[in-house]
Amino acid sequence: MTDPQRRRFLVGLTVGGAATVAGPLALWRLTGGHGHSLGSGPAPKLAELAPDARFVQPLRLPGADGLLAEVDLKQPLRLLAQTLWVGLFPGPATSLWAYTGRVGAREVGNPLLHARRGDTVEVELDNRLAEATTIHWHGLSIDEANDGSGLHPVAPGARRSYRYRVDNRAGLYWYHAHPHGRTGVQLQRGLAGLLLVEDEEERALRQRLGMRWGERDLPLMIADKQVGADNAIVYKDGADDWIGNRVLVNWTPEPYLDVIPAWYRFRLANVANARMLRVAFVQGDQVLPMQLIGTDGGLLAQAWPVDDVFLGPAQRIDVLVDFGGLTPGQRVRLRSLDYVAMENEDESGAFLPDPMADHPGATPMGAALDLMELRLIECATERRPPARLPDLSALSKIDPLPDTADWPVRALRLRMDEAGRWFINDWNFHDNGHEPSFSVRRGSREVWEIRNSMTSMPHPIHLHGFQFRVLSRSISPPDIRGRQVAPGGLTAQDLGWNDTVVVWPGEIVRLAIDFAQPLSGTHRYMLHCHNLEHEDMGMMLTFAVTD
Ligand code: C2O
Ligand code: CU
Repeated sequence: MTDPQRRRFLVGLTVGGAATVAGPLALWRLTGGHGHSLGSGPAPKLAELAPDARFVQPLRLPGADGLLAEVDLKQPLRLLAQTLWVGLFPGPATSLWAYTGRVGAREVGNPLLHARRGDTVEVELDNRLAEATTIHWHGLSIDEANDGSGLHPVAPGARRSYRYRVDNRAGLYWYHAHPHGRTGVQLQRGLAGLLLVEDEEERALRQRLGMRWGERDLPLMIADKQVGADNAIVYKDGADDWIGNRVLVNWTPEPYLDVIPAWYRFRLANVANARMLRVAFVQGDQVLPMQLIGTDGGLLAQAWPVDDVFLGPAQRIDVLVDFGGLTPGQRVRLRSLDYVAMENEDESGAFLPDPMADHPGATPMGAALDLMELRLIECATERRPPARLPDLSALSKIDPLPDTADWPVRALRLRMDEAGRWFINDWNFHDNGHEPSFSVRRGSREVWEIRNSMTSMPHPIHLHGFQFRVLSRSISPPDIRGRQVAPGGLTAQDLGWNDTVVVWPGEIVRLAIDFAQPLSGTHRYMLHCHNLEHEDMGMMLTFAVTD
């Protein structure tokens, strides 16, 4: 079901051309927040990986050095996109493509960036890879040139600076490579990181919650990778829906985290290429209830109790979960619960050879998958945080949904053609390229009505440049209908600001988008599926915002 000209095997490319300047960062040992070091036995074959070989490494926490090191964007930052050898798994080191940098004496990789709303930030990208790349600032409302989409690739050996003002609400955003046709492979190989934006409201909430960032307030950056017996990350260009046989949370394979019996705050980001997650905290056969307090674009107006949340590729959520009722020694799993994958696109069976053949050992889409383990440990009584949360009924000010009765409606249909290529209306990026499919006046407001065919699969649709509000969902599958908490079929996750929305087969999702921005001239942005293999197959369009 792919574009035949794109059937190249990246495995060959990696061995040949793409291993580039290794530089001084050539071989990092694992330096997580715990200073834990790995054993160095022979690499286990994946088929032989015993179930108890999982959950043996402590979760990497935001730290000073290495992957997930914290970097404040108060100072300009220079990042090199390059090959980096990291000891991720027991045995041979794994080659990642990563954004690396030096901050003072620290060596950082795919750093967790911090910025405050209103800051002007500057990040230089120095591309040391053998192919073009970019840094796309996912979720930020910025101009075309700094958006880092495939419209502005940075050639191998070239540099460019991204400089922009952070106008977004506080929340967890992220950054990643976005070169046309190569986003899937570049993210699978590692080019992605988190960006945490703060503002007054967020600081006030953090104070009230009394949870220290990095202790009981933690990011969980979740991806699955297909890993070979030599610990290499495998990718096959031209493949569809790239799922993997290993889970990395904060770059730690199937980690564990010691937790005390108390409330925790987790900011989850699904940075997988294609795997949709249905996340829940599970103890034995009990699901621990969560409070959903934020989505892609920051805090919700109020907390919503939820048992589990669908987290499509590129989506983020902010949740509170209570381990207070548990006792030391007990274990909780962060699990993706099973769900009906609704991969209905190919009822004839004509296009799909065997999707699993490329992913030996991978859990099929929709099947339950354990992501990490949380182990309850003792906490001295006098150090126990309060068992109750503060009032969460007024987290943030979010305007009620606008009255869109007189807004123009743009109809967008997600579909597959007979050749197995994905389209948005009649647009496929390989046909239409950079040519904007349509223009929108700056300051105008539109309803985008995205309709997915019945013979389709769930598509996480992402809009560049603008956060939107979900107005309604209709003809939703039962799994989504059952989550409605507000009129219009809206789920709790739909009630905030978002930049990515999952549209299920048969479903119609209406978005309210306000195209106001403090810019002039013409700026081009993208709307695309964030299943990266769909994106690379052309399920993407360019549109222009004009004066
Ligand atoms: Cu996160 Cu167009 O991408
Ligand atoms: Cu898609």
